[in-house]
Amino acid sequence: SYRTLDDLADGQTVLARLDLNSPVSVGVVEDNRRFSRHARTVRELLDDGHRVALLAHQGRPGRDTFVTLEQHAEILSEHVGREIEYVPDTYGETALTAIDDLEAGEAIMLENVRMTDDELPEREPEEHAKSDLVQTLAPEFDAYVGDAYSTAHRKHASIVGLPLEMEAYAGRVMVSEYEANSAIANREFDGEVTMVAGGKKATDVIDVMTSLQDRVDNFLLGGIVGELFLRAVGYDVGRDIDESDLYESQWRANKDRIRELIESHPSELVYPSDLAFADENDERSEVTVADVKNKDHDYLDVGSDTVEQFSDIAAHSEAVFVKGALGMFEDERFSNGTARVLEAIGRSDCFSVVGGGDTSRAIEMYGMDEADFSHVSIAGGAYINALTGRSLPGVEVLKGSVEATH
Ligand code: 3PG
Repeated sequence: SYRTLDDLADGQTVLARLDLNSPVSVGVVEDNRRFSRHARTVRELLDDGHRVALLAHQGRPGRDTFVTLEQHAEILSEHVGREIEYVPDTYGETALTAIDDLEAGEAIMLENVRMTDDELPEREPEEHAKSDLVQTLAPEFDAYVGDAYSTAHRKHASIVGLPLEMEAYAGRVMVSEYEANSAIANREFDGEVTMVAGGKKATDVIDVMTSLQDRVDNFLLGGIVGELFLRAVGYDVGRDIDESDLYESQWRANKDRIRELIESHPSELVYPSDLAFADENDERSEVTVADVKNKDHDYLDVGSDTVEQFSDIAAHSEAVFVKGALGMFEDERFSNGTARVLEAIGRSDCFSVVGGGDTSRAIEMYGMDEADFSHVSIAGGAYINALTGRSLPGVEVLKGSVEATH
């Protein structure tokens, strides 16, 4: 196991790695759950009288989401309810001076760590530990707080190198994400385990299904994933989604694994029995529900019989894990599958985890209460890793840090 904030003595100089990576549109950073979640860790550190430097990333070089953390500092300040100063430097003189000037109960936000050359290469922790970034920052602090669970699948310098050179602790986000997301791979459930397997990232979802095939009793199929499974059993309802041949390429990439799952686990796969469509480009057009045998339309959601069946299964399950939406819920007309089934999961007293950026967004979009679920994850790639039972380097290094000092 790892040390948590409960093990950290008050009044230290602390470097906390957060994941505030966010959607950015025309240069404007969107406020989202990552800020409100990490604010809890930051507030606790400030209340405990620590001097806190925050380290985070945004985007990747070459993308238009690759921006400084100035807006992140402002948004986070609002969530924390204290001023967090933005420092336009990661580990140069300006950063070191700002760290030295920290007072108890104060926090600063260092510059986007992906703007340094040392951060992004995928390397082993021991390699990263030798980098200038790690060797310069580590001696400035008493402790490292790893809170960036959603980046824990990356072997980056600030994720695996820094904690190797410092006393490392898991932050509140790290602990809650790790425990909930790993439950399906690590925990025994007495009753039925159900997974909503939807969305448009078919390869990820089919990876998860393949590794969990013997642990899950019901895979509720929807979204593009559902269309691919329907196609494999003879109902070619797949529509050509925006990115021209994304549907076709996902079919080609995954059809063999889909057929294997159909052969080996026929009774665990729950197909949509009806689908909903309308003229996507005409807002006033009515939504029609048709049997899956009708293949003349571009389907955008599961139908009402399917919603009822999926909701019933969720209601009698002991655990439900959600990966991917059942329809194109961003358009309210096609939100029925995703929203109604999520509501049924929320109403039931099962252990429930909802992950993946898009699906989690549906919870607020359709006015559901996050507290109705056991956990709403803020992770994307790391959630997939956890579901497939792969270990996360950023978590392993925190565990290793305990063993090294005992
Ligand atoms: C995320 O947003 O999922 C994490 O911050 C990881 O980002 P990356 O995929 O650019 O490494």
